[in-house]
Amino acid sequence: MSKRIGTFNVNGKNADTIVEPQMLLVDVLREKLDLTGTKRACAAGNCGACTVLADGDPICSCITLAVAAEGREIETVEGLRAADGTLHPLQQAFIDHCAAQCGYCTAGMLMTAKALLEANPRPTREDVKRALSGNSCRCTGYVKIIDAVMDAAQQINAAKEVAA
Ligand code: FES
Ligand code: FES
Repeated sequence: MSKRIGTFNVNGKNADTIVEPQMLLVDVLREKLDLTGTKRACAAGNCGACTVLADGDPICSCITLAVAAEGREIETVEGLRAADGTLHPLQQAFIDHCAAQCGYCTAGMLMTAKALLEANPRPTREDVKRALSGNSCRCTGYVKIIDAVMDAAQQINAAKEVAA
């Protein structure tokens, strides 16, 4: 297989770009589509910094071939904000709880947490710990991150109750 044009559905939009067969999804996102919020750290599927969602499931984009992402709905941290710029409740909660320091793990944490809250809108702290167990953070000690996810869950549920 040689270079060809691939079509990627990222954050609800289709984007065409030239891909090589061995290209990884993280490289397509960062280098071809200019979506640099997704970070590469260990490059081995161990730290979760590169986590994006594929059809709602968290995947490590550093060990996913780009061609395998074609035909799937990919969500990155850039897609979390609402169209009017309002931050996603998870993003706001990370700010409110000082859950990011260097920020290198943050995009992956946010995407993993988003998948968790969609699958389990009322998680326990243990549920959050378990869900984030594949995401490493060298700075925060995790407590503030867990606090932020718990708070975001509450905010999302409260907003749903108001809207119902
Ligand atoms: S950079 Fe992908 S898991 Fe660490
Ligand atoms: S905030 Fe620095 S690695 Fe998590």
